[in-house]
Amino acid sequence: MKSSILGLCALLSAALPMTSSYADVITLRFSHVVAPETPKGKGAQLFQQLVAQRLAGQVQVEVLPSGTAFTDANELQALQDGKVDILAPAISKLTELSPKLKLFDLPFLFESRAALDHFQARPSGRQLLQSLEPAGVIGLAYWPNGLKQLSARKPLREPGDAKGLVFRIQNSDVLQSQFEALGATAVRLPFNQTLQALTTGTVNATENTWSNYWSQRLDQQQRYFTESNHGALDYMLIVKADRWRTLPFAVRSTLEEIIDQVTFEVKKQSEAENQRDRARIAAAGGSEIITLTPEQRARWRDAMRPVWQRYEGELGASLLKAAETSN
Ligand code: LMR
Repeated sequence: MKSSILGLCALLSAALPMTSSYADVITLRFSHVVAPETPKGKGAQLFQQLVAQRLAGQVQVEVLPSGTAFTDANELQALQDGKVDILAPAISKLTELSPKLKLFDLPFLFESRAALDHFQARPSGRQLLQSLEPAGVIGLAYWPNGLKQLSARKPLREPGDAKGLVFRIQNSDVLQSQFEALGATAVRLPFNQTLQALTTGTVNATENTWSNYWSQRLDQQQRYFTESNHGALDYMLIVKADRWRTLPFAVRSTLEEIIDQVTFEVKKQSEAENQRDRARIAAAGGSEIITLTPEQRARWRDAMRPVWQRYEGELGASLLKAAETSN
């Protein structure tokens, strides 16, 4: 199937009514912090379209993109309070609720996207999806964005080049350790504050995927990108357990089928979307994209790798082994 997620969305919107006149229609509010044209933004739109098609008159989805309703700072609380029904935070942002999820932030853990997909589909990955249940939250699916790259106002070719820089990071202990291992400082900021922090100089470096860099035009503040592919930025689609369980069984089953379909599409498209945005950054001409030699990349891996030891005890040797085995 060749159609892109947006193509599919367009077809569906042409064919389907978007709203229902029934008074008892269930509204699911889906909030996220990125732009609509990113892998997560498109996934949310496709979910909305498929629900409009398959559950017309029973369920409608309201998508609240770009942190307009809730940001990283308050979206989990909003879920707990029932102000929003579905979120797809980066897994890094869920590590306070489920420390084992820190695994996904370990630098250079998975050697390829396929290895990470394989791990997520296997029992250890499925268990991590359920690991938020004690917090009253259900993980429904993993959605990929893409591999993370480094950026700064100076070229980063060798790990020593990062020394003394101040990196904006997501709210994650592992990511903090990762940059501290390089002799840099890490500042945890909500995604929506990243552009401003780079503009004002509160931070002068960061890590993210090509799609997140481009959709915020962070390239206008970061002269140098290093194509390090040192980790992945993946999301977990989450709902509040008691809200989810009170939905009628048939509705829930259809929603689960739709989520499987959307997950398949997000997986299929996200890599291409990131490569498209990498090309846009290159074409915009304001930044340089540095490609590492295998030897340089090995030195970045060696510099960041001590972070693993720091979290080994907390994560457990068997979980780490399961992840490494996926390679
Ligand atoms: C970030 O904070 O950099 C990302 O988690 C944003 C996102 O949702 O992709």
